[in-house]
Amino acid sequence: MGEIYLNGQFVPPEQAVVSVLDRGFLFGDGVYEVIPAYAGKPLRTPEHLQRLENSLRAIGMQAPLSDVQWDEIFARLLSASPEADQAIYLQVTRGVAPTRDHRFPKAPTPTVMAMAKPMKVRDPAIAREGVAAVVREDIRWLRCDIKSTALLAAVMLRQEADEAGAEEAILIRDGLALEGSTSNLFIVLDGVLVTPPKGQLLLPGITRDLVLELAERAGLASREADVPVAALRNAEEVWITSSTREVMPVTRLDGQLIGSGKPGAAWQRIDDQYQAFKREARRGSA
Ligand code: PDD
Repeated sequence: MGEIYLNGQFVPPEQAVVSVLDRGFLFGDGVYEVIPAYAGKPLRTPEHLQRLENSLRAIGMQAPLSDVQWDEIFARLLSASPEADQAIYLQVTRGVAPTRDHRFPKAPTPTVMAMAKPMKVRDPAIAREGVAAVVREDIRWLRCDIKSTALLAAVMLRQEADEAGAEEAILIRDGLALEGSTSNLFIVLDGVLVTPPKGQLLLPGITRDLVLELAERAGLASREADVPVAALRNAEEVWITSSTREVMPVTRLDGQLIGSGKPGAAWQRIDDQYQAFKREARRGSA
């Protein structure tokens, strides 16, 4: 791994260390972003930084850096492998306090960290066969719109999916499917692309918005509407989306086939658009 940005400096990973009194460590008191970058060009930086600001505001913190400062940090992190596709991870915590006390410190100095790592190339089997998912009760809190580093429920759900041989756990609250443990959810029902509406119970994914735009461009009808668990199970297609997974077809749900059991035609159309969008991004014209 290349250098890590920590509190104003770029340091080798072994020197990127934080106090045990950091509230991120003690309480998960922080927020984060994951930004995909294609050949050194981050995708939708303004949208990611806006979501970061929304997360910070929701937890009573202010933006520690300007957008220009973030851009400079990203450029330096990405410059270590300029041709590669990479994922930037950034995290802001409420910093180090003198003692462990739940209450916010009076004048906190945030801990600010960012790093980049190579993005995994999609296994060709995923486009051919799709992936498996399991359905689980959503055991997370009621502010899933905040991209909080307090991810224990998501960690447990993702692990459960993995142990069930699945790529993702799709989460249900009050009979409605909301999103995956680390992704947003789309279904195709009666030929229409449907994704649950934004609100406090799911993360407003940047990829989700992009997929809605690409659907419009491709002439695929879409709507933001509740997805009852029965609709999920009877859908013609199910997809999960995220910055690192792009648009991933789910073809098995709790062991039952979705549609034909192969990635569907609508997925293929949107994935073609998505891959074209990435090529534009690499050229710097997305
Ligand atoms: N996760 N919903 C949840 C709960 C997520 O954790 C993520 C992303 C998404 C998709 O958001 P976006 O399209 O902006 O990546 C939806 C990231 C990738 C992560 O935690 O690593």
